[in-house]
Amino acid sequence: MKTTSINCQTHPVLQVDDWVGFGAYINSFQSDQVVVLTDTHVFESCFDAWSEKAAYTPAAVIEISPGEAHKTLSTCDHVWKEMHRLRLTRNSMLLCLGGGVVTDLGGFCASVFKRGIRCIHVPTSLLAQVDAAVGGKTGVDQDWLKNMIGTFHKPESVLIDTEFLKTLPDRHWANGFAEVIKHALIADANMWSMIQSQPLTTYYTATSRALIAHAASIKCVVIDQDPTEKGLRKILNFGHTFGHAVESVLLENGYDILHGEAIVAGMQMEALLSIKLAGLDFRQYHELTLWLRQQYGLLAIPTELIPEIVAKMTHDKKNIGSKISFSLLKQIGQADYDYLVDDPELLSDIVRAYLKDL
Ligand code: GLY
Repeated sequence: MKTTSINCQTHPVLQVDDWVGFGAYINSFQSDQVVVLTDTHVFESCFDAWSEKAAYTPAAVIEISPGEAHKTLSTCDHVWKEMHRLRLTRNSMLLCLGGGVVTDLGGFCASVFKRGIRCIHVPTSLLAQVDAAVGGKTGVDQDWLKNMIGTFHKPESVLIDTEFLKTLPDRHWANGFAEVIKHALIADANMWSMIQSQPLTTYYTATSRALIAHAASIKCVVIDQDPTEKGLRKILNFGHTFGHAVESVLLENGYDILHGEAIVAGMQMEALLSIKLAGLDFRQYHELTLWLRQQYGLLAIPTELIPEIVAKMTHDKKNIGSKISFSLLKQIGQADYDYLVDDPELLSDIVRAYLKDL
């Protein structure tokens, strides 16, 4: 297999140039069986082409239903039963082929099955390639609360093939690009300048391998210093405290929303909070909000859901006691963490301000 390595100490992250030789690569792990976990959509759109390109047929394929609504313990139960039925042992390998739901849930299933088996991630969405599959966080949602149940479980490797993205619908490009933007905003002002110099649509299909590698490498620099989120890794949650709450509440109320769409709204809300708490300059706030709004539009959050959104934030995993903990921008390209807020009225005002014209 021909690959280009993205510098990551936590676990190997490899961009795949050619799958020929994948059989020898996977055999080098000397697992007794390799089973693929995927969702029905990725199975239909990608599996045959990938299996043919890699000249590789796994021992079995476990399929789950696609979408965040299925990232639950009940789906895990199905996966674990299949793993039992297929007689996977501690020496087996789960190969998670899919987007963030598959890599998050698959990593979690692998991490606790028989007290932990190995996994390899082959992310097929932009969001999973630049974020979800990298860094060893696993998890499932509980009662729509995002990633409430989870573990840290490093994959043996993450194999990124940008060819998978050729079948990605535009909405999913924009979804994944939200995490590329987040990486630029928290750690790379030059990358932000480059990104916002063009309309978002120019990145659909044309997001280069180099840009994907760079976005993933920003995450690697952070996780290598703090793999289990004791401190610095929290900056990767910029936009996610409001964003996860918005996503959870809208999903729970039957809205069709993707993770990245909620994060784009969350980043604007947390940029506003950054002015107040982290010293973000108003002009930088305005620049980033204007571009995100022009490119993604405004997320129409019904005002009657604002109290639920604020209440959801009290369950955020970063919270300290009753205080909600935010990762915020000091300036574009520089983030910090542990900004504590204990003022529900302020948080409601931020959501209301987001819903107003700039
Ligand atoms: N997605 C944020 C993290 O992996 O820490």
